[in-house]
Amino acid sequence: MEVSKNKTLNSLSADWYTDNKFLKKERNQIFLKSWLLIGSESQISNPGDCFFHSIVDQPIVCIRQEDSSIKTFFNICRHRAGSFKNKQGKNNLLVCKYHGWTYTINGELKSPRGFNKSDTALKELCLKNINTKIWKGLIFINFSDKPKSFGATFNTVQKILSPYKLENFTFDRRVSYVIKSNWKVYLDNFLEGLHIPIVHPELNNIMDYKSYNTKLYKNFSVQSGKLDKSKSPYSQSSNNIAYYFTIYPNILFNIAPRRFQTNIILPLNEKECVVHFDYFFDSICEEEILKDINFSDEIQKEDILICEEVQKNLLSIGFQKGIISDKYETGVKHFQDYIRNSIN
Ligand code: FES
Ligand SMILES: [Fe+2]
Repeated sequence: MEVSKNKTLNSLSADWYTDNKFLKKERNQIFLKSWLLIGSESQISNPGDCFFHSIVDQPIVCIRQEDSSIKTFFNICRHRAGSFKNKQGKNNLLVCKYHGWTYTINGELKSPRGFNKSDTALKELCLKNINTKIWKGLIFINFSDKPKSFGATFNTVQKILSPYKLENFTFDRRVSYVIKSNWKVYLDNFLEGLHIPIVHPELNNIMDYKSYNTKLYKNFSVQSGKLDKSKSPYSQSSNNIAYYFTIYPNILFNIAPRRFQTNIILPLNEKECVVHFDYFFDSICEEEILKDINFSDEIQKEDILICEEVQKNLLSIGFQKGIISDKYETGVKHFQDYIRNSIN
């Protein structure tokens, strides 16, 4: 297969992947305005359960409330910007590590050590709330004061996913990978199947490459491919198709028979990102779970090698800009257009 036979398009230039000024723009104009996946409801089942996270340099704490709703706050004390003690599991109070102020789990200031609580300056000092939305057991946040409609993208995703009862899948574990590449190198790589026969011999062995296709939607795309039943590492089902959703900017849903996996890609700086794999299964046995996780890990390591090598090359004076096939890399083009159009 020769890419040059297809119509070609220009890729983002190398500086988009290496220059911190682009990451700052992406942070302010994309990440801080988008609905971002942070985890799953089942990780914090009981009132007071919480988890701590950092997303594009924003420290957050997500906490289950007494009325069983879920709230997310900045993990920043209103006194002088301390952080709270990272106590996994049940918390009755959030306790600041710096001077010991405490807050209730719904964000109200309870005891401002060293101050008089009736002091009017303390009156409004509750924790800063972050918009939080639960969808199919997954927790999303949006840092914007006026967030875009969640349904604008997710109603269409939901329609496509309607044959899958994702709420029946149980969270199993999170596996995280730190990768020495710009977050978009990782996304670009995920968004095409052209590299599969070259980079992933095992995946290629179970996937009918000719069936591989990409569908484009507003703010997301879906790749899919038929799996060979006899060789597939996944549990058997009537529908042996793998679906790969990319919901912009940084959420992936990987759906294989009886397993649902979300990936969250977070930039750490312009040259590094972290990718969280959250695994959900539909009551399959431990042996099948491990087979699936090991297979994913192998593919991930193959992708990491490529992404890290590409990142090094993007820093070289020997490369300025690449080309994209309008037949095999339409997902990459769609994503890069979204990035360009989101930034002014
Ligand atoms: S910064 Fe939190 S108590 Fe001082
Ligand atoms: Fe890959």
